Amino acid sequence: MVSIKFKNNKLFYIDQTMLPEKEVWRKCSGLSSGFRAIKDLEIRGAPLIGVFAALCLYTVANDLTFSKGRFLKYLDNAINKLKSSRPTAVNLFWALDRIKGVIDANKNKDVAQIKKAILKEAQAICNEDVKLCHNMGEHGAKLVNKGDKLLTHCNAGSLATAGSGTALAVFYRACAQGKKIKVYADETRPLLQGGRLTMWELQKHKVDCTLICDNMAAFMMQKGEIDKVFLGADRIAANGDAANKIGTYSVAISAKYHKIPFYVVAPFSTFDLTLKTGESIPIEERKPLEVQTVLGKMRIAPNNAKVRNPAFDVTPNKLITAIVTDRGVIYPPFAKNIKKILG
Ligand code: MRU
Repeated sequence: MVSIKFKNNKLFYIDQTMLPEKEVWRKCSGLSSGFRAIKDLEIRGAPLIGVFAALCLYTVANDLTFSKGRFLKYLDNAINKLKSSRPTAVNLFWALDRIKGVIDANKNKDVAQIKKAILKEAQAICNEDVKLCHNMGEHGAKLVNKGDKLLTHCNAGSLATAGSGTALAVFYRACAQGKKIKVYADETRPLLQGGRLTMWELQKHKVDCTLICDNMAAFMMQKGEIDKVFLGADRIAANGDAANKIGTYSVAISAKYHKIPFYVVAPFSTFDLTLKTGESIPIEERKPLEVQTVLGKMRIAPNNAKVRNPAFDVTPNKLITAIVTDRGVIYPPFAKNIKKILG
């Protein structure tokens, strides 16, 4: 299953706001189109945002017919515009900084050569992500036992990456190893990435999956229905504090209380070692309408209801059992071991 396609210098993606009702493929037709697709969550998930932004930037560059000075200036502005689409997932900044590095390194060459270098880097970012997912799956599946009942939150699968996912890559690998797992997916209010996206792709992969509302997770843990939690991350600080979809922190607290292992699965590109702790991770605050309605369709609060809508929260490292990365599983003490493996 793929969530984006890059063919003949054109970038296509599944519009995830239409799932699970319809699988609609759209073309990214320029800077505004790419910016809007990320901002409106038509494409989403930390690794995929980075990959998509890099490929989008290439398509933008490829269409330009400016002389070099204007070309470079335009791309600088385009990078800044794409970076302003969403603030929390660091993969976006990581991928665009990689492209910026390549542009700078080639700035004395002619425009055609710079375009070629951008294409090469964007495709490398995309292909690398597929491998990172594979490796996370391998490492994470070693933590899964036959018959495990596993909880996940939001969507950390094929729809959130260029490959098989982060947390869901672990489930796919465990299934391929014949471990017969059972997965519970939190629906993930307000935008229902768990219900709409995780359930959709787990069903496609024929994984035994059950949907629960967010407020049911603690009850399921109390009843012995959940053995382990695996979920993704949008940015991980140097001490292991991890930002992920809002509601993750509550799941982590419940898991700790019930002595259930809580695993964060993320590639090296999701770590932000410039931040000492999770306190300085920027948290996106989204529109009130997302909370006042169900997906903009049905109002579930009065028109003038005051709303807070933080899209992410930060789970303190002391609630995390281990972080599964493409380079292996990192256990506490996180500050020391993250530095050892990724620093
Ligand atoms: O707002 P979203 O849907 O982009 O949030 C996505 C998440 O929080 C995912 O759990 C995270 O990006 C990990 S994806 C592999």
